[in-house]
Amino acid sequence: MAATACGRQAWRQLMRNSCRGPAATPSKLLRQQQPYRLAFQRQTSSTTRTTPSSLLRQQPLAQRSYSSGSQGGQQTPPPRSSNSQIKFWPFVVLIALGSGGYMLLINRRKTMPPTTQTTPAFSPSEVTVLFVLGGPGAGKGTQCARLVRDYQFTHLSAGDLLREEQDRPGSQYGQLIKDCIKNGEIVPMEVTIALLENAMRDTITRTGNKKFLIDGFPRKMDQALKFEEVVCPAKLVLFYDCPEAEMEKRLLERGKTSGRADDNAESIRKRFRTFVETSMPVVHHYEAENRVVKVISTPPPDQVYADTQVQLKKALGDKF
Ligand code: C5P
Ligand code: MG
Repeated sequence: MAATACGRQAWRQLMRNSCRGPAATPSKLLRQQQPYRLAFQRQTSSTTRTTPSSLLRQQPLAQRSYSSGSQGGQQTPPPRSSNSQIKFWPFVVLIALGSGGYMLLINRRKTMPPTTQTTPAFSPSEVTVLFVLGGPGAGKGTQCARLVRDYQFTHLSAGDLLREEQDRPGSQYGQLIKDCIKNGEIVPMEVTIALLENAMRDTITRTGNKKFLIDGFPRKMDQALKFEEVVCPAKLVLFYDCPEAEMEKRLLERGKTSGRADDNAESIRKRFRTFVETSMPVVHHYEAENRVVKVISTPPPDQVYADTQVQLKKALGDKF
């Protein structure tokens, strides 16, 4: 506030001085006033939102308009008079105040927590989350069942939760989920994240278990970022890598009895495309952060599970 008041005062002084210039013939006055008026207009518009940094920016602006007037030969600066020193001291004061304020702000920001940061619902020091990813038919569900048996995880499949919500009488998302699943598209993250958070909260309340395998999630970058921001950061990503031909064979076989609307040739093709285009970038994102444990899932389930245990022990130690 002090800097703003001081700035206004400085400009009033500047205007008085420029209009009182010693050689104020009508034509000279016109020539002289133009650059100043320009400078003043720019200055007043910027002083309406004066911050320490904007105060710093104002100074070169005034200098720029002054020198461009003289360079063009059209508009000459006012002749220096004995009171020219009085004209410029306010700028020195402004710069000093601005710099001081700016440094103060920087130092305060260093100690202040960022205001936009959200605290996740569950702390990763209390709650363990492992994301389980892989193409459709890569064997995620099969491997999760074994990990639940041996390591007391709670298995939450995003696809299962979505199908449950789709079938829940009165659900406002039922049709949306149904359409997305049929077309192999990703359901908007708000729905899936809310279902997962509710399921986690419910599990913790009912059983006290705080170890989760979150299967088939995140399938898209926005889901990954949002979940870790608002629900819980994941410890790592368990990624089952399997060739498409093998996954297609498994899904068609499963389709004979699963009753799933998306275990058919057409939906499978769409799911593969979504996986490559939308879900693989998520795996790459976590790979770049060294948070991926990759297991080749082409061999029979027991062999894949043995490899999973070895890899997880390597990443997390014996107790995970
Ligand atoms: O994992 P699952 O194969 O059971 O997923 C079935 C379908 O559920 C996906 O093809 C997709 O339409 C939807 N889904 C989703 N977002 C997730 C997981 C599944 O939209 N994170
Ligand atoms: Mg599954």
